[in-house]
Order: sequence, then structure tokens, then C-alpha cells
Amino acid sequence: MSPPGANLLANLFDLLPPAGRSLVDQVATLASESGLTAYVVGGPVRDLLLGRDLLDVDIVVEGDALTLAASLADLRSVKAVRHPQFGTATVRADRFALDLVTARSESYERPGALPSVSPGTIDRDLRRRDFSVNAMAVALHGPRRGELLDPTGGEADLRAGVIRALHEGSFRDDATRILRAARYEARFGFQIGSDTGAWIRRDRTYLDAISGARIHHEFVRTFEEAEPERCLLRLSNLGALKAIHSALTFDSDRARSLGVARLLHQRGARSAYWPLLAWSVRPREVETLASRVALRRSQTESIRAVPKVRAIESHLTKRLMRNSRIVEVVSPYPAATLLTLAAMTESSEVRDKIVRYLRRLRRLWPVLNGDDLLAMGASEGPLIGQVLKRIRVAKLDGEVSSRADETRLAERLLRDLSR
Ligand code: CTP
Repeated sequence: MSPPGANLLANLFDLLPPAGRSLVDQVATLASESGLTAYVVGGPVRDLLLGRDLLDVDIVVEGDALTLAASLADLRSVKAVRHPQFGTATVRADRFALDLVTARSESYERPGALPSVSPGTIDRDLRRRDFSVNAMAVALHGPRRGELLDPTGGEADLRAGVIRALHEGSFRDDATRILRAARYEARFGFQIGSDTGAWIRRDRTYLDAISGARIHHEFVRTFEEAEPERCLLRLSNLGALKAIHSALTFDSDRARSLGVARLLHQRGARSAYWPLLAWSVRPREVETLASRVALRRSQTESIRAVPKVRAIESHLTKRLMRNSRIVEVVSPYPAATLLTLAAMTESSEVRDKIVRYLRRLRRLWPVLNGDDLLAMGASEGPLIGQVLKRIRVAKLDGEVSSRADETRLAERLLRDLSR
């Protein structure tokens, strides 16, 4: 963490990519010139104090953020994407996004509803936020430039490594904060404060009020973490997974398997996270789970296959198995669910066969196609499919490799099978 009194803005600029640096600098100048007050807020201030690189920046303006965004966009000859109903606008430069928001206070008409928003001061804006570590701001304007605003003790909590909600109704207002708390705790190696932990346990039932789409979004953000297993384990300990759906389960074995999935198949691992969370799902729970967490179609299919894929494990334990037999056993199922089995199984025989299938066998197809067989004199009909299938089996089992091998085999099969 940066020492107290350090020049926060200089540090901020150091941690920003060049495009972000010039955008923030221009906001500071525009705000000072027009007598508006503007602040960098939330996650970027937390990350600045932790010395982490800043990807995007959120700015709160006391006054009209939309006008400031329009002036900034004019200055840069780019477009500001405006959301007048929320008083927000986004200005992009290269891949850097700057969000400008009108300072606001919020009230929640009922738990889980999106808040009603009214214009407010920076102080009220910070106090409506989720955790003290996210409720700090750095002033960009005039003589207060570089000043840290920390009305809820966020800097002290950062130093102590504590995730602390600002009031006891926080999770009732917005239960997605439960998932956020676990994510920050795991990401930074912090601890959820004891009151905050008690409020989460007490109010986790309010997760019921959160829509599937919002829950889904929080899981996507969790899966993007470097080690989502830490966060998922914590959500399980807090009883939050069960509160979302009883078929979502996670324990230290699953956590280990999640890491194994990444080692086995770095690019595909993320697709295994849902089936891994649903590894105990029963067939009759699939539909309710899929709708509760708003799964996409392929994700639902990967979960529907879980009970069936668990059942094929015992067919893959033999040491010697032909590749064609492996393909026959596993190919009816989605790759995501197979990868999950590979990561969950205790048998290296099972794991090796699935990995061999995912990395190589599933892409091993004959070079010849139906047209080639027609050109060789075959007549249209089911025979062509049968011959191609037999060639694939031979190829999987290493009996043919070149095009010439395939052609010889095709000629023989066409002769034999058309007799
Ligand atoms: N926020 C909140 N309650 C929520 C969501 C967000 O109070 N349910 C506030 C927090 O102050 C947070 C800010 O809005 O810092 C921006 O939210 P978001 O972009 O989701 O988070 P970041 O803090 O930027 O964190 P991350 O690094 O995870 O993106």
C-alpha cells in the first residue's frame, strides 16, 4: 500500500494505461474549469491504495456528469455513450473505459429491487456503497486535487485486510453483495469482518429476491477471478450457494478439481465450472437450477449430462482400451462435462482417456469425405456413412494414417460391403 500522504494522483497516473491517464487528466481540467467537483471512486481507489494496475476508472461528478462527458467526448472527438435515465455516460479511448456518474443517493423500495436513484453529494454517494474498501474517493478538481475522501474507514480496513459492509441492512438491500464480499475476500486474501459475516448468514435468504440474470452475472465475474475456487468455497461455507439453489454444492475436493480442470485444459476450464458446481445435481433438479441461475443453453446441456457422465466413469477404468472404444463411450456427451469428470475422478486411467479424447481424438476424422467415395464409384445411400465410420475407427486405432491408406481401405470396404 502507498504510504499515507503520498501523492495519490501521481500514483493513480502511474497505474493507469496511457489512454486512461490522458482521459482522467482531461476530466480533471474540465471539472476545474467549469467549477464542477469530480472524483475517482470505488474499485479504482481501492486498487490504487493497494498498488494494483487500474483497468477502468469510475468518476463521480457532483452536478451533471452527462454534460461533463459530452465536453470530454468533444475534446477527444469520440462519442460518449450516454444513459440519461441513470445519469451516467461512458467515454472510451483505445480499450480503456471511463465511466462518469452523477453523484447519487439510493433507496431500495424492496429487497433485491434495483434502487431508486436521486442526485446527491459525494459523501452520500460513498455511504450508499457495499463495503468500506469500495467507499473511498480521490478528488480531481481545483484545490482539493489529490485529496482522499474516506468517510467510512476504508483505508484502515484495507490495511487490516477486512471486508466490512457499511450497515446491517446492506445485504437485505442488495444480496448480490454477498457474492461480492466473498469475491473480494478471496481476491485480496482479506477476511470478511465478523459483523458482516453474521449479517450475510442472517440475510442470505434475500438471495431469493435476486433475478437469475443478476446471479448469473455475479458467477461470471467470479469465474473470471484467477482462483474462483477460493470464492466458491467461501460462498459454500457462508451457506450462500445453497440459498441460491440446493443443487449448487462445493467443498475442498471440488476446489482441488477446479484447479485440476485449469491444468488439464486451460482454455476449456471455464466451461467446466458450472458442471462442477452442479456435480451432485439430480436429473429432476436440472431445469429449476438452469432457470434459477439463468444458464445459457450449452451450460444447461453440460449440467443435464452430469448424472450420465458420472455413470460412464466405471467404463473407462480399464487400462487397455482402443481409442475407437473410448470415443464410442464419451463422444455423446458435452466436452465441458467430460472435462469435469476428468478433473473430479481419482482414476488416472479415466483422466488420461478423457484428456486424450478432448485434446486429440475428437478432432481425428478421415481425410476422405462422401464426395471422394462417390468419385470412387460408390452409390449414394447409407453405405457411404458406414464406410466413413469404419475408416474413422481404423484411423482412431492407428490402422490407417495417410490418404493412400484411407483410399485402400475405402476401396476394400466398398467392395466387401456392397456384395
Ligand atoms: N457497488 C455497490 N454495491 C453493488 C455493486 C457495486 O456499492 N452491489 C459500488 C462499489 O462501490 C463498487 C462500485 O459500485 O466499487 C463499482 O462496482 P463494480 O464495477 O462492480 O466493482 P469494482 O469495485 O470496480 O470492483 P471489481 O474490481 O470487482 O470490478
